[in-house]
Amino acid sequence: MLKSTATLLGVALVIAACGSSGGTGGSRALVPPSGGQTAPMPGGSVRTFELTAKPTTVQLDARTSTAAWAFNGTVPGPELRVRQGDLVRVTLHNQLPVGTTIHWHGVELPNGEDGVAGVTQDPVPPGATAQYDFIANVPGTYWYHPHQHSAEQEDKGLYGALVVEPAAPPQPTPQTDKVLIVDEWPLGPRQQPPPPGDDAGMAVYGLYTVNGRSGAAVEPLRVAPGSLVRLRLVNVGFLVHSLHLHGTPVRIVGTDGHDLVGGAATTAPLPLAPAERLDIEFTAPAGVWSVHAHDGTAPASELRVPMLAPGAAVPAVLPDTDWEAAQATLDLAAYRTGTSIQPRLVSKNFTLNLNEMDASQVSGGSSSGGMGSMPGMGSMSGMDANLRFTINGKVFPNTTSLSVATGDVVTITFVNQGKLVHPMHLHGHAFTPLSTDGHPWASVMLKDTVAVPPGATVVVRFVANNPGVWMLHCHELHHAAAGMDALVAYQGAPRLAQLAGSGSPVPE
Ligand code: C2O
Ligand code: CU
Repeated sequence: MLKSTATLLGVALVIAACGSSGGTGGSRALVPPSGGQTAPMPGGSVRTFELTAKPTTVQLDARTSTAAWAFNGTVPGPELRVRQGDLVRVTLHNQLPVGTTIHWHGVELPNGEDGVAGVTQDPVPPGATAQYDFIANVPGTYWYHPHQHSAEQEDKGLYGALVVEPAAPPQPTPQTDKVLIVDEWPLGPRQQPPPPGDDAGMAVYGLYTVNGRSGAAVEPLRVAPGSLVRLRLVNVGFLVHSLHLHGTPVRIVGTDGHDLVGGAATTAPLPLAPAERLDIEFTAPAGVWSVHAHDGTAPASELRVPMLAPGAAVPAVLPDTDWEAAQATLDLAAYRTGTSIQPRLVSKNFTLNLNEMDASQVSGGSSSGGMGSMPGMGSMSGMDANLRFTINGKVFPNTTSLSVATGDVVTITFVNQGKLVHPMHLHGHAFTPLSTDGHPWASVMLKDTVAVPPGATVVVRFVANNPGVWMLHCHELHHAAAGMDALVAYQGAPRLAQLAGSGSPVPE
């Protein structure tokens, strides 16, 4: 269970005072756990990590250094690699000037560990610490980021990967298993005008990174020709990036923290929406190749990872990959694995109409959090401060909660009535996408984030098996900050924190 020095008001005040003198003290008694996980699964172990969130400066390429907020001084933060069945115990030290939390994106953990300020906990004040405990129950690729003003905090560099390896090594075992985290930085401009479907304000995101480096500064991927390679692709940014492994067919072996078995080989660019993960496997080819982005913009050309044998020299110029620009990106909904969606008796069905509109059109839109109320956001994005992102015409916290009971089989129908893609994310659960525009998905996939393109209707299904109060929101976090959030609330489950305690009108 989350143990935080911030849980009790009196404690929080004392700690905040300590923090200003720079100490986070090791001897402070944490508030005792009120539930949650206390021991690993049989065969697992307790894995402890310390993550310190603090301001720093990062070097993104030879010319570009920028102020950032980071875990343990690096962007991305440390890769947390654990085994299925381990108890993961993370102590967060907050050395930021503001309150923060850590959310374990995609992990199906107890509600109190979910790290959502204003919903599952109060933010951890500057100078304070908090401890998160959860079992790494499903092998796959996850990530972590703050869930307090996260459109700002994550954007400044507070993110990292969490990899849960299977309890027994997979057969065959990849010789290389590496995480590639894709992000953008507001060091623009990217291009004028922005590509169709892109928010004009997003043009300030003019520098793309992979594992915190851009262009020639990106660390090459060293793979022995003929060896089996697993890459875990994570998009922590706000734009969709289509990643392509030039010269080699790949199989998708994982979606959003869940293995995918029997996937067909593909050479298509792989679209990765904000917060999505795709794990791919392939046999390393001989020669110099690259993993690179396709979107036709200049910053995308700097998002590439040279791939070559150990010891081989990285050429000054990578092989030209322009010729592939015409190749269609993969449609995940059509990706074949040999499985097919089974009908189930659905007990609850919710329809969420997603849209963007002017604040004046939104009932209660002025009283809730929009861009204007997000500290620091105005300077980072040209997004119109009057724009609201709505669910059924409302902005959070006025959106209607989805009320479910344990055991419910729930469908959510996302109807995108707007002009921008919305990567919709559900906390605490994995869902199965059922259909897009009435066409069934070709395979059973477990995901926690699904891209809902403009004009599209996407239906997902999940089993309500994890009581609590959970966020459901767009992971283009500017959209979440401007209203596109709802709660999935289990009947009878206590809400562990209130927005008033978060000091923020919106928890995301
Ligand atoms: Cu990765 Cu609610 O977030
Ligand atoms: Cu959105």
